Amino acid sequence: MWPYPKVIAHRGGGTLAPENTLAAMQCGLDRGFHAVEFDVMLSKDGIPVLMHDPEFGRTVAGQGSVPQTLAADLLKMDAGKWFGEAFAGESVPTYEMVALFCQQHGIWMNVEIKPAPGYEKETGNVVAKLTRQLFSAALPPNPMLMQALPLFSSFSFDALMSAKLAAPDIPRGFLMDKITPDWLQQLQELEAVALHTSHKNLTPELAAAVKQAGYGLFCYTVNLPERATEILGWGVDAFCTDRIDLIGANFI
Ligand code: G3P
Ligand code: MG
Repeated sequence: MWPYPKVIAHRGGGTLAPENTLAAMQCGLDRGFHAVEFDVMLSKDGIPVLMHDPEFGRTVAGQGSVPQTLAADLLKMDAGKWFGEAFAGESVPTYEMVALFCQQHGIWMNVEIKPAPGYEKETGNVVAKLTRQLFSAALPPNPMLMQALPLFSSFSFDALMSAKLAAPDIPRGFLMDKITPDWLQQLQELEAVALHTSHKNLTPELAAAVKQAGYGLFCYTVNLPERATEILGWGVDAFCTDRIDLIGANFI
């Protein structure tokens, strides 16, 4: 049985706040969401921060990239202004800042490990080790284990494998834009608990196969209530959404 929340606010606050910021987490919370997905990448000095794109230009102004910039400098960057003046001054947060915020407010986290190209193993390793420290109270034999711990996900097999080696007791979901024929083998190698996939490429047959094999099935990014109802009917366990205004936290 899927032990996690079923509706998750994508990048913190979906379309209502600048992605991957503390303001986004607060926005999701204000809308009743106690489950968030966000993207984590390493700074030049190996500090996990919330960023989706390795290159600057979309959510933070300027040239350069996350893996070439020190965390102290990333934290000074404005990650809110692109979204709207009301969010100007909102900084790039560290993963630790966001994890502490989520712990404080009882928000469950789907931590997407999003390595900059070439940093796959390092990112998985660092994020997993830090998560283990931050969630030491929830590790086995604490019976709260599954519900309290974050769920890692990544499109990078290497990052997830590295996370598995560093923190085997923190669950993993493998992200596949399209489910490839070797999906089961990959999940088995990763000792993953779930497959995360785009709802656009999912079919009822594939959903049934994943469920029959005993895995959780998580879809991104579902923004229409009718579509959410449809894929839930196929056996999908959970999904993230940008439209937290249209699809409430209690949708299921
Ligand atoms: O984790 C689901 C989803 O966030 C994956 O795509 O590009 O939004 O990180 P992306
Ligand atoms: Mg993501």
